[in-house]
Amino acid sequence: MDKLLLLIMAASGLSAVSSAAGRQYYFVYDRKNFTEAQRYCREKDGDLATVDNMEVMKILNNTANLDNMFYSNNSYRAWIGLHADSWRWSLSDTSFYKPGETEFRQWWPGEPDAGYSRKVCTAMYPHYYNGLWHDLSCDHSFYPVCADVRGENIN
Ligand SMILES: *[C@@H]1O[C@H](CO)[C@@H](O)[C@H](O)[C@H]1NC(C)=O
Ligand SMILES: *[C@@H]1O[C@H](CO)[C@@H](O)[C@H](O)[C@H]1NC(C)=O
Repeated sequence: MDKLLLLIMAASGLSAVSSAAGRQYYFVYDRKNFTEAQRYCREKDGDLATVDNMEVMKILNNTANLDNMFYSNNSYRAWIGLHADSWRWSLSDTSFYKPGETEFRQWWPGEPDAGYSRKVCTAMYPHYYNGLWHDLSCDHSFYPVCADVRGENIN
């Protein structure tokens, strides 16, 4: 990684980048609701992270810097790209996926439970709940997890 990129990341409060299958993932240590998080990642020419295999699960679970995430009890929550519009990924362009990967799910037992709101988005808790997912109302402000890939048809 070059120095300029590291400087930009330091200045904007981003974490170190981790990669899997040629994609780069990073936590943004600045809380945003789901819509804002999605917009933020897309403005960086990426999208909210798609978690489509165990390698990515482990990377996200293990690379989050919890010291940067604390603000109250239950702080350690991060938005990934899955949302309850038929439970699909923010990165919906299927050319990015291998067979079966769009269906990869790692819910915490009992989840998704459709939260307590009509709009439900997916958060992971790095280091907690084994990194497994919970559906929550999209208006909560959590830390976005972005990836550096972006599809053609954004909606
Ligand atoms: C997630 O992190 C926790 C705590 O660091 C660890 O116990 C657990 O095995 C990890 N899970 C995965 C899937 O990497
Ligand atoms: C996210 O926050 C913006 C204002 O910053 C608001 O307009 C929007 O309705 C919020 N979205 C959700 C899903 O809560």
